[in-house]
Amino acid sequence: MITAVETRILKPTIQTIGEATWALASGELVAFPTETVYGVGADARNGLAVARIFEAKTRPSFNPLIAHIISLDEAKKAGHFDARAEKLGKAFWPGPLTLVVPCAGDCPVHELARAGLPTVALRVPSHPVARQLLDEFMAPIVAPSANISGGVSPTAAEHVAEDLNGRVSIILDGGRTQVGLESTVIACLPGEPVRLLRPGGISRAEIEKVLGEELAEATEAVQAPGMLAQHYAPDARVRVDASEIAEGEAWLGFGQAAPLGGRGVAHLNLSPSGDLEEAAANLFAYLRELDALKPRAIAVASIPRDGLGEAINDRLMRAAAR
Ligand code: TXA
Ligand code: MG
Repeated sequence: MITAVETRILKPTIQTIGEATWALASGELVAFPTETVYGVGADARNGLAVARIFEAKTRPSFNPLIAHIISLDEAKKAGHFDARAEKLGKAFWPGPLTLVVPCAGDCPVHELARAGLPTVALRVPSHPVARQLLDEFMAPIVAPSANISGGVSPTAAEHVAEDLNGRVSIILDGGRTQVGLESTVIACLPGEPVRLLRPGGISRAEIEKVLGEELAEATEAVQAPGMLAQHYAPDARVRVDASEIAEGEAWLGFGQAAPLGGRGVAHLNLSPSGDLEEAAANLFAYLRELDALKPRAIAVASIPRDGLGEAINDRLMRAAAR
């Protein structure tokens, strides 16, 4: 049973970040912006606080969480970094990269947040509000995306409020997030090639360039648990790679191509100029906006699969799964 709490939506200031820090230290939940999506955060060391996240999101508790940390140096206290992980951390942190590495002996991230795994997912975010919060809190903050499990991830404070009002103490409102897609999750484990567990805000090509080798795929043994076939799903059915629109449907376009057929209930374009970064930033907000109109379905134009297109298509495929 979830006990309702009063949710306060606050603009980030020195004072409100202080209040958020205090709430975290008291085991409460605080939603905050990162450069990717909004996260719902808890003290990574406090099992009870971590349990509240699962409860608030109605998330299956076998799904491990990402620990947000202020720096690579601090991250090294939580996990073992081999040369490859070190290279990636140096190149992409702070930023939208999550590294799954073996836990350090005295890993501060609670076992529940790791779902009992011998590995830990670590990320150093670049968003100034996330950084101020981590700086004040002086400990890792675990934070999954701040939405009800399985739904569309939040890229604005209003989205968080829609899903988690009454379930978190504070929502720090830092406006729209820039990247719009979750971090890329990479596993660097001993005796294993570096594996891409979840495409995200940094493209495969960028990572392979720094690494000097190709990324291997996830396997049964090394994967991101909770990468459910259906995820990121609005209430409306989603139809991908659409070229036409039926009566009662909403259109989510990309580039210049207009849909064939009926007029539809609404049209939005992820990026009229065909820019994948712009499309990524708009994706979740536009899915929410169209879903609110309760269309028969959301028909989505096909989107190239290179660069950030890999992550965009991954999210759309899961949103479309039923
Ligand atoms: O951009 C992001 O990563 C956002 C913001 C808030 O930082 N967070 C986010 O968290 O997307 P979440 O919980 O929605 O996704 C965490 C992903 C899941 O796919 C999970 O399975 C994977 O990271 N993960 C966490 N710990 C893992 C581990 N030890 N091994 C493999 N995958 C892990
Ligand atoms: Mg999520």
